[in-house]
Amino acid sequence: MRFPDFGTPECWRLDTPAQTLVFASWRKHLPSIVYWGAPLATGEDLTALADSQLRPIGNAVLDLVPELSICPEEGRGFQGQPGIRAYDSEGRVLLTQFRLESAGNDAGTLRFTARDEGCGLTYTAIFRCFPDSDVIEVEARLSSEGDLPVRAEWLAAPVLALPETAPDFIEYAGRWTQEFGERRVPFARGIHMREARRGRTGHDHFPALIVPQPGCNFDSGEAYGTTFAFSGAHRVIVEETPDGRRQCQMGVAEAVTLAKGEAVSSEKAYLAFSGSGLNGLAQSFQRHVRNHIVAFPEPARPRPVHYNCWEAVYFDHRLDVLKDLAERAARIGAERFVLDDGWFGKRDDDTTSLGDWHVDRRKYPDGLAPLIEHVEGLGMRFGLWVEPEMVNLESDLARTHPDWIILPQGREPMTGRGQHVLDLTNPAVTDHLFGRLDALLGEYRIDYLKWDMNRDLTLAIDRDGMPLLRRQVHAVYALIDRLREAHPAVEIESCASGGARIDYGILKRTHRVWLSDSNDAHERWKMQNAAMQFLPPEIVGSHVGPRHCHTSGRELAMAFRAAVAMTGHMGFEMDLRELTPDEEATLARYTQLYKENRGWMHCGSQHRLQPPRPEIMAQMSVSEEKDRFLAFSATMAVPHSETTGPLRLAGLDENGKYRLRLLNADEISPRATRWFGSPLAVPEGLALSGGALMRSGIVLPLGFPDTMWLVEGTREN
Ligand code: DGJ
Repeated sequence: MRFPDFGTPECWRLDTPAQTLVFASWRKHLPSIVYWGAPLATGEDLTALADSQLRPIGNAVLDLVPELSICPEEGRGFQGQPGIRAYDSEGRVLLTQFRLESAGNDAGTLRFTARDEGCGLTYTAIFRCFPDSDVIEVEARLSSEGDLPVRAEWLAAPVLALPETAPDFIEYAGRWTQEFGERRVPFARGIHMREARRGRTGHDHFPALIVPQPGCNFDSGEAYGTTFAFSGAHRVIVEETPDGRRQCQMGVAEAVTLAKGEAVSSEKAYLAFSGSGLNGLAQSFQRHVRNHIVAFPEPARPRPVHYNCWEAVYFDHRLDVLKDLAERAARIGAERFVLDDGWFGKRDDDTTSLGDWHVDRRKYPDGLAPLIEHVEGLGMRFGLWVEPEMVNLESDLARTHPDWIILPQGREPMTGRGQHVLDLTNPAVTDHLFGRLDALLGEYRIDYLKWDMNRDLTLAIDRDGMPLLRRQVHAVYALIDRLREAHPAVEIESCASGGARIDYGILKRTHRVWLSDSNDAHERWKMQNAAMQFLPPEIVGSHVGPRHCHTSGRELAMAFRAAVAMTGHMGFEMDLRELTPDEEATLARYTQLYKENRGWMHCGSQHRLQPPRPEIMAQMSVSEEKDRFLAFSATMAVPHSETTGPLRLAGLDENGKYRLRLLNADEISPRATRWFGSPLAVPEGLALSGGALMRSGIVLPLGFPDTMWLVEGTREN
């Protein structure tokens, strides 16, 4: 029996400060990632490293171990999920055997180009390093040169080989009002696939994966993370093949047909490795969003406190009530007033008017100007809700242009929230939408749009019966880009019934996400802690909701609601007339605290803290200079034990001496804590080194469920 002679591999390496990736290609095949992890020595012998990874061949298998390359190919014997699946227009399978034509690293961007002449395909993979964030952006492209059109059923972004030692991976599964449900899935033989075909990213699946190595916790150990940057149909596949290797593939869940000369992108994914636990990973991704994904029109402007009227008035817009709410909001500290759904067409409920983006003169006889002037007179800016992609059949738009709706002939239509989706692949539709939005932004001083999207796509084909899940997303992107170009000062929030459109693709063109329609601080705290793995706090909209939460029925104290909101981009969203004087004072106090700290919190680091008890969920923010911090420790259930345990802090200057204070010692309930002797609760607080705080920790009082302790620290030396 003769086994293949692989020869000497060609090798390349990519480095960011916290990670190294090594690629190897044998016999001009597509390269494989043979190493991904902590930085390797500069002079590392990459050839020896690559050869050390060659797998032995066992019995009853092929006479080779098929390469798990950056695009595993069926044509090279890979029997797991291939990175590409393509056919020609006559149905012939294109079993690619790409040959590497060029590979080069240009200032931190490594590009591989490979061709399969027989199949008429060129495959390109791009790995772009961002040393400041420690994140690598990856993308695959496929172009067709053959005479027959090619149908690419699947093209994965460059494929990652996952560690074979990790017991499980973390992914996100949720629903409306429970976005970012973090769950651990044990690795098992076979495919674990999350496919979202809903035309938006989906409440149920933030497209990301984290693989912690054994022993990894928030602050130590190794973890790998990746996220897919596309706001629609996507597939994330985690596979363990029968030979025990593991891979992760991410791509768009819709086939595409390429004519000669055409190309398609896999869409981008981002990856990072951390040698400092899950928090290290979170900091890389957060930094990347800050430095390279979200671009604020006025970067120096602090994130303004929002007042949003949705849960106060819903569709019942009365100018006098809104003015009154604006006055109350400004008094408490709001800086931007957002007029939500209900201002246009004849929208008295959710059955009509989407598409008619004209001010409802029954509610606003003189247009929006009187409200805007009032809001501005109170020192706030004005924001407006829109849902441009949607239409109600009961609207002038639907009556005039029924053919603009995604409603294939002869198919029974389906609605979601009573509404339909416009076919944005039709340029007449996007021109019209641009015209309306441009006119509104031209006529009124609006500095922010809450861009909503409240239904999944179904029957997702265009007028010619062609699939549009991919093109619809690109059309939305193009529409937002065009609008931003015309109105560069306007900020946009991505909302989709809460958090159904959150990903780095939409964030490239927006500035805030509405994480969830749940303003229930208890649920929010869980979601925000999970979301911080990928999103920095300043872009995560977080509102203080009504006393009786409208989506869960829970009744939560103002201090808890406000503390949770202040860890994100803070806002209020309730009928402010319900506030007791005490609640108003508490909300004003926390709003002030947010304002005093947002400057450094929105460019500092966030750390999840190892809970000393199962009912505790805690995090802290540390300034960039490590000279101050705020720790937030929530009691989420009735305490498990008779007393509490030390909460270890994180991210501090080891030798710095910090003075600490429990900011809300006045909220200690004698029914929960009969005695608390720690100097944390006295005005001068206590002083300890960062090292002691990170290893010994601090003991906090016993709290009732749904209460939060806030600890402030300032470095003294
Ligand atoms: C869904 C959003 O998530 C809510 O915040 C609100 O804007 C409504 N849509 C308005 O219809």
